Amino acid sequence: MSQEKVLIVEDEENERTGLAELISSWGYRTETACDGIEALEKVEQWLPSIVVTDLKMPRMDGMELAERLGEKSQPIAVIIVTAQGTTGTAFRAGRIGVYDFINKPVTDFDRLQSILQNASRLVGKSVELEVTRRALRDKGVLGPLVGSSKKMQELFRLIEMVAPSTASVLITGASGTGKELVARTIHELSPRRPKPFVPINCAAIPETLIESEIFGHEKGAFTGALERRTGCFELAEGGTLLLDEIGEMPVGTQAKLLRVLEDRKLRRLGSKMETTVDVRVLAATNKVPEEAVARGELRNDLYYRLNVFNIHMPPLREHKEDVPELVQSLLAEMSAKHGRKVAAVSEAVLNLFHNYSWPGNVRELRNALERAVIVCDSAIVETKHLPPGFGQAPVRTSAEDPDAVRLGVGTTVGEAERLLILKTLEATSNNKTRAAEMLGISLKTLHNKLKEYGSAAAEAASGKEE
Ligand SMILES: Nc1ncnc2c1ncn2[C@@H]1O[C@H](COP(=O)(O)OP(=O)(O)OP(=O)(O)O)[C@@H](O)[C@H]1O
Ligand SMILES: [Mg+2]
Repeated sequence: MSQEKVLIVEDEENERTGLAELISSWGYRTETACDGIEALEKVEQWLPSIVVTDLKMPRMDGMELAERLGEKSQPIAVIIVTAQGTTGTAFRAGRIGVYDFINKPVTDFDRLQSILQNASRLVGKSVELEVTRRALRDKGVLGPLVGSSKKMQELFRLIEMVAPSTASVLITGASGTGKELVARTIHELSPRRPKPFVPINCAAIPETLIESEIFGHEKGAFTGALERRTGCFELAEGGTLLLDEIGEMPVGTQAKLLRVLEDRKLRRLGSKMETTVDVRVLAATNKVPEEAVARGELRNDLYYRLNVFNIHMPPLREHKEDVPELVQSLLAEMSAKHGRKVAAVSEAVLNLFHNYSWPGNVRELRNALERAVIVCDSAIVETKHLPPGFGQAPVRTSAEDPDAVRLGVGTTVGEAERLLILKTLEATSNNKTRAAEMLGISLKTLHNKLKEYGSAAAEAASGKEE
């Protein structure tokens, strides 16, 4: 039996005693407090390693309590009980040791029990994790992520806070803003670090194969299933699975996924047996999730399940202060990759970068620099090394701009979308990859749209694909 000490903080008496009895029955030693102030006093005297706290309480709420506990030198895992639908955005970023979230009223006892078990394991390991965290953290850097701006620093704190837990995280933001990199960093900063990180891009897999890709299949499960196949969930056992472009996952598959997330059990296609999996699930999308839900592309219940925590990546134009640092780090990476010694960009290039709107975000910067490093014959990147026409991106607000799309009142949303897509293709000389990037949609979505608009447009655009 575990002798771990758990402090339960809850202002509602029945709820408080109920939780305490339940948790005691699992072999933990428990104490209770009715608000944050009392909790802090108990923590001082009784030294619990886990605190389960309600959010809304008089005097001091759960968030402030978590923040205060995060400042303590002893490791304390904080588990927050939240009302359904409260998402990570509601939580203030800070270096606080929130371990996980569970819905209120607590009815999923199995989940609470497994959260507690994992938390007690983590508390033992936290010294080790702190060492990893320090190693990955430097001024303006978190693992592979670069950025000293206030926005990025806040994100880094949020990432550090959520990483050690098993909570699902929904990473949102436009294309090229670093969503996948964030997912990798969360994995690296978690106790799952020695286990696999498995990213799967839902947009890149044909609908007919996606379920077998995710859940695996048995030999003979369907025509063409010649061998047994291990799905991504099983490949990620003990580690982290990133479901990238979750908005592109067929709705039927989303329902199956939800079941796995709920009971941590899955069934390979064509199998009668269920397999238990221990996988932390992260998801990413470049859509606005609420809009995807409204359009019926993303299941509401799945959205809530994944969005326990939300990390939103800002577009590069909103944190241009980071451009010089990003340039430095990307130049170093590209120089190493291509065996060059390109050390810096000229003042003129930096100015151009500063005035540019970066529709393709950090990826666009990375691509521009990669090209520059390849064509550059000196140590400094000059404007002539940038892609032709760089910095003259369409300013869609200007009426005189030849690249502007003019829409009259009465234009349908569908028509507006069509015009914008075709105009963007025109502006990128039919480079679909780049157009998709600028439009903030996946290449697959772009292809589908073009198919919808008819073969004429699709053919016209099929000329160049990078
Ligand atoms: N903060 C950052 N620091 C350093 N590199 C970054 C940062 N953000 C993004 N990058 C780089 O930009 C590129 C794009 O990042 P990433 O693939 O994570 O974007 P994404 O948001 O997943 O895009 P998409 O939605 O198109 O899949 C990567 O090469 C990544 O290394
Ligand atoms: Mg991505």
